[in-house]
Amino acid sequence: MSQRHFATIAARAGIAQDPAHEAVTPPMYLTTTYRLKALGQAGAYDYSRSNNPTRDLLAEALAELEGGAKAIVTNTGMSACVLALQLLTPEDTLVIPHDCYGGSYRLFTNLAERKRSFKLEIVNFQQADWAERIQAAKPAMIWLETPSNPLLQITDIRAVCQLAKQLGSKVVVDNTFLTPVLQQPLALGADIVVHSTTKYINGHSDVVAGALICADQAIGEELKWWANCLGITGAAFDAYLTLRGLRTLLPRMQQHQANTARIAEFLQQQPLVSQVYYPGLAQHPGHAIAKAQQQGFGAMLSFDLAVQPALLQVFLDALHCFTLAQSLGGIESLICHPGSMTHASMSPEAQKTAGIGPTLLRLSVGIEGIEDLLADLAQGFAALDAAIQAASTPTGGAGSAKNQVSAKNSNAEATEVPPQQESSQSFRLNPALTALW
Ligand SMILES: Cc1ncc(COP(=O)(O)O)c(C=O)c1O
Repeated sequence: MSQRHFATIAARAGIAQDPAHEAVTPPMYLTTTYRLKALGQAGAYDYSRSNNPTRDLLAEALAELEGGAKAIVTNTGMSACVLALQLLTPEDTLVIPHDCYGGSYRLFTNLAERKRSFKLEIVNFQQADWAERIQAAKPAMIWLETPSNPLLQITDIRAVCQLAKQLGSKVVVDNTFLTPVLQQPLALGADIVVHSTTKYINGHSDVVAGALICADQAIGEELKWWANCLGITGAAFDAYLTLRGLRTLLPRMQQHQANTARIAEFLQQQPLVSQVYYPGLAQHPGHAIAKAQQQGFGAMLSFDLAVQPALLQVFLDALHCFTLAQSLGGIESLICHPGSMTHASMSPEAQKTAGIGPTLLRLSVGIEGIEDLLADLAQGFAALDAAIQAASTPTGGAGSAKNQVSAKNSNAEATEVPPQQESSQSFRLNPALTALW
């Protein structure tokens, strides 16, 4: 592990290293190709799919931040996942958590079922028998995502890695939600870390990219070969922007987290919230492990609204500081409905098994002023209250009384679905899912 502080590694990545002109900020090399001095005398760089100086600066910084031997910068987070899977053969078994990011789940299940790329075992790491399941599966690779998306469940990385070592399995951790500033899986025994750098590492929601960091140099070299072979290395311009975003990673994460802690506290007090999922809360089932293996609880949080799904749009329409959008980790606050957005590629059954309910909302808390964020959410709850009240008055019109409020407010006598408002934040509940709940 590097002796330098995270803030120093991030802020000084590539600074004052320009051999050509002594530029303080590193230049961006958009060139696709490089001149040879003579036949047989290629320099360090020959073609930018294989190697690029701007991409290399980012890779070096990420390897140092994660404490790895080698990093490979890829063109998306998904391609970083694809890259790690190159270590598997059709005879191998991959263990994945039942509640990983929907796109990763889609990749794993389709590669296993449609391409027979490997055998797949889906394990619920929150259940007591997870170790037995892994021992029985004898996997070549175990995939972890902790905190998980979207329910922020925590897996004990060290415990899984200890078992993996006994079985000769590789452990890959998707560290997108926390970044190396808040969690260093390689130091806990993992072999590979993957990131969607689209999220906190870049932090400004203007680059889709990824990275893979290996503890072992030889595995890193093999995967670098595969990245070039498959053509999934990252673009120089993306690497330049990501390097710029990376410089402020630590202060951004600090601000993200401070805001999230206040929001978690606020949501817990809301009568229309039936459950808050945030590992920073003492009652969260993974709180103790999160405290032990993380350097902070992160800035992702989910909650269940105690209303019928038809009222979700009322809440979303009232928000102005939380934008309804996919993705996370940017400086701006986002709200998402995992069931119909990020996790729509999971079957309704898989969503239900993973605990993704129809009124689950996920927040990516940004770095805006906390008072504005709290006021925004308060506005959303006030709009819900008003809609419930309007529906419960006799003059509220025709309609079902009880179908608008559930859980905490199950006594309210709602009488109609409020008229659909003109929405700037379009929202649609996956119709396939409504049938299941
Ligand atoms: C945890 C996690 N891993 C991987 C990905 C895929 O990354 P990308 O969208 O950059 O391809 C995402 C995307 O949301 C994610 O949330």
